[in-house]
Amino acid sequence: MKKAIYPGSFDPPTLGHLDIIRRSAKMVDELVVGVLHNSAKNSLFSTDERVSMIKEVTKEFPNVTVTSFDGLLVNYMKEIDATLIIRGLRAVTDFEYELQIAQTNRVEYPEVETIFLTTSLEYSYLSSTIVKEFASYGGDISKFVPPEFIDRIYAKYQIERNGL
Ligand code: PNS
Repeated sequence: MKKAIYPGSFDPPTLGHLDIIRRSAKMVDELVVGVLHNSAKNSLFSTDERVSMIKEVTKEFPNVTVTSFDGLLVNYMKEIDATLIIRGLRAVTDFEYELQIAQTNRVEYPEVETIFLTTSLEYSYLSSTIVKEFASYGGDISKFVPPEFIDRIYAKYQIERNGL
């Protein structure tokens, strides 16, 4: 039984994240989307908000569950008995950071393997940071996030979509 975790900040979740969830769910028996609860980090959305947003857009996938975790990813993986980590790779700029994390995780938990999925071309430029930057200036984010999230993201910046 292959149980994988797709960990991340997901602040906010994007279409790129959803694409990775959709594709990786096909490769494993069970996929846990793990939202990092990081109290030190200034998130736009609370952990609970991010978990429920992802639940909303993944409810049609029967083998996907969404949870939050804090502390070390590998410790959480031992807790839930998962040995695969899924991460998306957009460009070469992601590579060094991702390699470092993957190798550190394997030193801490040798049974762990990290699987990198290359991001679909249409999302290769996309990141939560870019979405926030765009939204904060009232830019059109409809190509970046699921439609259900658009008003909620603008609301964080006190922007009403009708006014755009
Ligand atoms: O979406 P992000 O912010 O790129 O995700 C990064 C994440 C959550 C995968 C990574 O920061 C993480 O696993 N954090 C938990 C703490 C940990 O285990 N760090 C890795 C050891 S170097």
